[in-house]
Amino acid sequence: MKFKEIINSWSTKKRILVLISFIFSFSTLALVIWVMLLHRNMDLFKWNPAQNNIFIFICLIAGLIPIGFITDFFIRALKVSSPKKIPGKYIYALVLIGIILPSAYLVYLSPYKHVGDKAPELMIIDQPGSSGFPNLAVIFYTQKGTINWVRYGTTTDMNNRIDENSKSKTHAFVLADLTPDTLYFYQINGEGTIYNFTYFPSSIENLRFGISSDAHIGLEEANRTATINILKQMINPANHFSAFFCLGDIVDMGNDDSMYKEQIDLFSQYTTLIPYRNVVGNHDAWFGGIEFWKEYFYPSQTPNNSSDSQLWHQFDFGTNIHIFTLDLEWGTETYTKEQQTWFENKLKALDPDDWIIVMNHAYYYASSTEYQGVPWYDNPDMINTFQALFKQYGVDMVFSGHDHQMEHIDQEGVNYFIVGAMGGPHDLDPTYYSQNSMFFDNTHFGFADVQFNNGNVTVSFRTPENVLLYNVTISK
Ligand SMILES: [Fe+2]
Repeated sequence: MKFKEIINSWSTKKRILVLISFIFSFSTLALVIWVMLLHRNMDLFKWNPAQNNIFIFICLIAGLIPIGFITDFFIRALKVSSPKKIPGKYIYALVLIGIILPSAYLVYLSPYKHVGDKAPELMIIDQPGSSGFPNLAVIFYTQKGTINWVRYGTTTDMNNRIDENSKSKTHAFVLADLTPDTLYFYQINGEGTIYNFTYFPSSIENLRFGISSDAHIGLEEANRTATINILKQMINPANHFSAFFCLGDIVDMGNDDSMYKEQIDLFSQYTTLIPYRNVVGNHDAWFGGIEFWKEYFYPSQTPNNSSDSQLWHQFDFGTNIHIFTLDLEWGTETYTKEQQTWFENKLKALDPDDWIIVMNHAYYYASSTEYQGVPWYDNPDMINTFQALFKQYGVDMVFSGHDHQMEHIDQEGVNYFIVGAMGGPHDLDPTYYSQNSMFFDNTHFGFADVQFNNGNVTVSFRTPENVLLYNVTISK
């Protein structure tokens, strides 16, 4: 039977039904293409064989349904005398799978669905203030476009006022050129909580940073008590922390905005009271989560002096402490040419005798084991890309997470610290130990405490209760 004859013999209702079925038979294919276009998804499949297998299964279905539809049409056209029986009934069942499967996968990925306002946080931004320390910004997100204002000052009168000019969903109020060692108060829209914080110390000899990573908020097995206790240490006045850095995997599934909501609601109680900066991790960014991350932690209107990206920055603390935050989520997959050029140029411009610190999510050297057959220790791509560069330009300390443990590895004078202990489940005991591992702990949660004093830096690992586990002093 000829193609034209078949179509002509159909009622309009059947024609519409067949057309819709034909279009839907390609819906899984459309999903596959969308998933593949986001390069971070391909990084996930590279590192996670189970996810990779699910995706291969979906690819097969994506190909088989439309092929099945077309094949059925032509084979039956040759065999069956009545055009009403073309296509075969089972094709509709196949098409139904083609509708249900991508819908279920899309619900699992929950792409770009915002689930509510996000609470404010006091973020360190990539813009130097007049004191030589970075400016800060009060950053938050509203589900609808709104106009807000912030007042701040050194007394509860809060005489400085910053107004937004137009409606926006992302909000970043820059508190510029603050005075070191000074207590500040601020309030949003003249109502509710009056927050307070102390701006960085006047001397770098009194700088003290807390650094942790991998809280995995949203994951049931994550230890929430550990996360909260670490945050409490950061704002405890007795500890005198000047800033808190979080190195990614702050949520478990970055594509699920309800996890970001839960995370920011929790953190905000603490991160409104201490200058705070986080960097992006693989869990934060996958399946489109990167778009949430940028809106919540470095919205596009935030001043960004050193780079063109919302994902990598340089922060100077006085004249001789420089912190780089990089976008290295699984490893070097996100280390673009653009980021590389920027980073190398910035490193070249610095005096190697200054304190140069790098912070990012993915580990370089690490002790660990295999996960689904993939090694999660010494990452050759990371080591080959960075170790010689760090040595050449005098990078002193490198902090990362990704592996859920605390570890110190001294690699020819470059000190690597892994601080992935903010609450995500501990990694299994290592089957491989990195050659120059000086300290390894996968039984405690905790954070790194970095103190500058007398020209040295002491890095300590501490439990969420502030019990010292290990410390090392690094000299220039
Ligand atoms: Fe993690």
